Amino acid sequence: MQHELQTKFRERFGGPANLYRAPGRVNLIGEHTDYNQGFVMPVAIDLSCWVAIGPRDDRKLVIYSEDVDATAEADLDGEAVRPTRTWSDYPIGVAVLLQQAGHRLRGANLYIRGEVPLGSGLSSSAALEVSVGYALLETSGQDIDLVQLALLCQRAENEFVGARCGIMDQFTACHGQAGRALMLDCRSLDYRLLPLPDHVSLIICNTMVKHELASNEYNLRRFECEESVRRLAKVLPDVHALRDVTVKQLEENRGRLTPVLYQRARHIVTENERVQAAAVALQAGNAGAFGELMGESHRSLRDDYQVSCSELDVLVEIASRQPGVYGARMTGGGFGGCTINLVASEHSAEFKKQVAYAYHSATGHEPRLYLCQASQGVQSLWASQRDGK
Ligand code: GLA
Repeated sequence: MQHELQTKFRERFGGPANLYRAPGRVNLIGEHTDYNQGFVMPVAIDLSCWVAIGPRDDRKLVIYSEDVDATAEADLDGEAVRPTRTWSDYPIGVAVLLQQAGHRLRGANLYIRGEVPLGSGLSSSAALEVSVGYALLETSGQDIDLVQLALLCQRAENEFVGARCGIMDQFTACHGQAGRALMLDCRSLDYRLLPLPDHVSLIICNTMVKHELASNEYNLRRFECEESVRRLAKVLPDVHALRDVTVKQLEENRGRLTPVLYQRARHIVTENERVQAAAVALQAGNAGAFGELMGESHRSLRDDYQVSCSELDVLVEIASRQPGVYGARMTGGGFGGCTINLVASEHSAEFKKQVAYAYHSATGHEPRLYLCQASQGVQSLWASQRDGK
């Protein structure tokens, strides 16, 4: 793969290239909590976005994407670069935000290959942003602070691309570790690495559907959470985000919220508790307890937060019936995309077979299933070649 990408780069742009990769992610538990300053527990996966990059003598960025077979250009010295509402807003947005933050970038040619399936809830966009941001900084001889890089990539997505995502995806693409889950506090950005039990497999099942309403509903949920905070803060002055609300406080002040706002808030407040309980379970190697919490999370997302869909529910229901399954839930923003399943390793081959068959019979969609390994966050591959690793 590495050699092939370098060859492709040379054929298109001439000259040698340095290689970078950043992973997609799957979230084990803690959904829609990141923009409420709460807790999440994602894993960086072994599907990545790859960038081959070589410097240019001028201050242009020329970016080729294999996925869409298209090239985009931006002049780093030119008039303010504007979004075009296409794929290139992600890499160009990152370059624009890096420059605005005071990083003077060199012109460069980039050849991009994405392995993370697009629009599947596995954060292909964060993988693209982080791999490009890291590659541009290193090519320009700039220091890289991974927390700052994650925050800048999130801002690029919020301000340049126009999607109001939280910090989970970019942070995971930066800080993932092989064999570990990240327990991230999205307020302080402190995190712990938690071991994944040896005998269990993480299996991602892709529903292969993506419902149109996803981004509107995402923004609406954010608004509903903010509105709940405004109402609760009138009587609970220490509440700045739903992260600060306890279940008891929520129940006592239920009358201040509409029924829908109450449901949204209840998901967030209980989900934060579940993530913390899940961290204890993982630390103790208790896959059974962890799996129970995954099931509760799914039901809360389905019934209270209302971001699931029939395909995700069917997939979770089928998975939960299989032998050796500890837990199953939707993962990511919802309205399609993937589920994550915690399965005893000796059952994983049979699980994949049975689930694929039953989901196809129930919905007519051919699902994709991946046995995924928790992998490392963004890395420069030429450094490992250079250092003889
Ligand atoms: C999307 C966003 C994340 C997070 C999840 C839901 O993936 O990009 O920031 O909010 O949805 O947990």
